[in-house]
Amino acid sequence: MFPGEIDVQPPTYLDHLGTIFARFGSDTQDSGNVSYGVQTATHRYFVKTVGDSADTAPYLDFDGRVALLRNAAQLARSVVHPLLPTLHAEIESPGGPVLVYDWRDGEHLGTNRDDPSSPHQRFRALTTPEICAALDALYDLHARLDEAGWVEGDFYDGTLLYDFTESRLTVIDLDSYHHGPFRNDMGRMFGASRFMAPEEFSLGAPIDTRTTAYVMARTALVFLSDTTLDRSAFRGTDAQYAVLQEATTTRYPSYSAFHRAWLRSRPEL
Ligand SMILES: Nc1ncnc2c1ncn2[C@@H]1O[C@H](COP(=O)(O)OP(=O)(O)OP(=O)(O)O)[C@@H](O)[C@H]1O
Ligand SMILES: [Mg+2]
Repeated sequence: MFPGEIDVQPPTYLDHLGTIFARFGSDTQDSGNVSYGVQTATHRYFVKTVGDSADTAPYLDFDGRVALLRNAAQLARSVVHPLLPTLHAEIESPGGPVLVYDWRDGEHLGTNRDDPSSPHQRFRALTTPEICAALDALYDLHARLDEAGWVEGDFYDGTLLYDFTESRLTVIDLDSYHHGPFRNDMGRMFGASRFMAPEEFSLGAPIDTRTTAYVMARTALVFLSDTTLDRSAFRGTDAQYAVLQEATTTRYPSYSAFHRAWLRSRPEL
């Protein structure tokens, strides 16, 4: 259904494919990418492109943005999981790669964190079993990613969409995940501090499966607690608390060790 290559700019092709009902460009994203919601006769797609080659404001130039989208496509081809929107096609165009994903309904959990009516706070106000179900799914996805060699990069609550009607979590924008361990060459890396591991602030430090474990544990502390290790703020069990404490202090040696401990700590349903 999708061509391997087009000889027109992405918006021209998308206008021909269906109706563009959403656009995410420089007014909302920092990346320089331009993405679209496209409705066809039968389907809704989320289509991601690298945007204007002349746009030099973003951190990554055109070639850097192309490389990041190719990385995202490689990740989507290597790990298929219910939390990830299906990647239908990677189309070559004069404006760089065009990634065609499924559109997923959901509200963005990473904005207006302090506003009680924000999706972030509405998600935190769900019952503990509902939040644990979402975390279990997120951790299962990361088990697949970790097995396939992917290391967390720039994960935060803005990577999550939650559909409150269907109780369905979607994970988007894993473009900065890294295939294989590497060294921090930035100092403070990109990301939201409350999710980041110490090595993501430390020039030259190794970033690897242990980093993924730390960031996932932080995610539970954000949603099931007040982001801190204050026991009285944490809504889970003592066993779950002990796993998150270990994951963010003495640390687990790998993501899989953290994940196994988390699964063992779950209360009987
Ligand atoms: N599969 C999807 N279905 C529906 N909406 C999506 C999907 N993927 C992303 N979005 C929406 O599009 C927005 C932009 O997507 P994304 O974060 O992948 O872009 P980006 O260019 O990497 O932006 P950023 O500057 O935040 O890194 C998201 O904030 C989200 O609202
Ligand atoms: Mg991005």
